[in-house]
Amino acid sequence: VDASGPTWGRALVTGASAGLGATFARHLARGGADLVLVARREDLLRDLAGELVDSTGVAVETLAADLASEDGVAEVCGRLRSDADPVDLLVSNAGITSMGRLHRLEPERERQLVRLNAEAVVLLAQAHLAGLSEREASGAIVNVASLSAFQPLPAMATYAATKAFVVTLSESLANAYGGRGVRVQALCPGFIRTEMAAANDLDEAAGRIPDRLWLDPDRVVRESLAGLDRGRVVVIPGAGYRWLHRVTAALPRGVQRTLVGRFAR
Ligand SMILES: NC(=O)c1ccc[n+]([C@@H]2O[C@H](COP(=O)([O-])OP(=O)(O)OC[C@H]3O[C@@H](n4cnc5c(N)ncnc54)[C@H](OP(=O)(O)O)[C@@H]3O)[C@@H](O)[C@H]2O)c1
Repeated sequence: VDASGPTWGRALVTGASAGLGATFARHLARGGADLVLVARREDLLRDLAGELVDSTGVAVETLAADLASEDGVAEVCGRLRSDADPVDLLVSNAGITSMGRLHRLEPERERQLVRLNAEAVVLLAQAHLAGLSEREASGAIVNVASLSAFQPLPAMATYAATKAFVVTLSESLANAYGGRGVRVQALCPGFIRTEMAAANDLDEAAGRIPDRLWLDPDRVVRESLAGLDRGRVVVIPGAGYRWLHRVTAALPRGVQRTLVGRFAR
């Protein structure tokens, strides 16, 4: 793993027990950042913390919290506002998906998805911005969205909607706080090889996705941190995906909707 991007004093990464979050933690530790690792599976967080302390010498805290619950969000918000060992970079990465036509999906899963992918992202950003403002410090937020933010996906309606929410939220926050030394990024990757993609409900779809469309998590994180360094607000990793996005974004919205409705199942 290469260290890349700017050097941060301390970063809090949500969803750090697996996938992209664990990859963010490894890159940031290699860049010298102390870390606060957040997810539900404490054993995995502890294993990663041990690995990072041994390999890089940075300080690593673990914080087991369910970010789809009020208590879990409150605990992480409390850590973000703390003056002791303050956090300067928040990586809001934890997220889940669901797949299928909406009427067939479990209502409770959809509620959890909205809480985790949208509500928690707002509340964590709010707590981090309040902490930075109280300390008159500069800092940054990376909110992990998805290219789905720009696509009305028939079988991932709630997921795509939460990611569109995260992109708009991040752009608004970049406008509101950019002048105060706070960088905000919406990271919008295409398909990444992680647990999420290997989850049962995505297995079938994953089998139909051509190999060249899969992104390596290290590349996604490198492009995100390099984009943060340059102050990029919307980061789409991979030249192929950037090209695809430019072409589809130039189409009238109705044409884009019809195309996505026809080809994305
Ligand atoms: N994989 C892709 O193709 C892809 C593409 C575009 C965007 N993304 C986005 O990238 C982000 C990371 O996804 P990934 O692919 O790395 O997924 P992943 O491998 O499934 O990891 C998800 C992470 O989120 C944590 N998490 C899930 N529910 C949580 C909860 N209620 N509270 C706290 N943490 C929770 C998980 O940890 P615990 O289970 O230990 O809590 C895990 O660390 C997500 O926001 C996703 O939408 C993924």
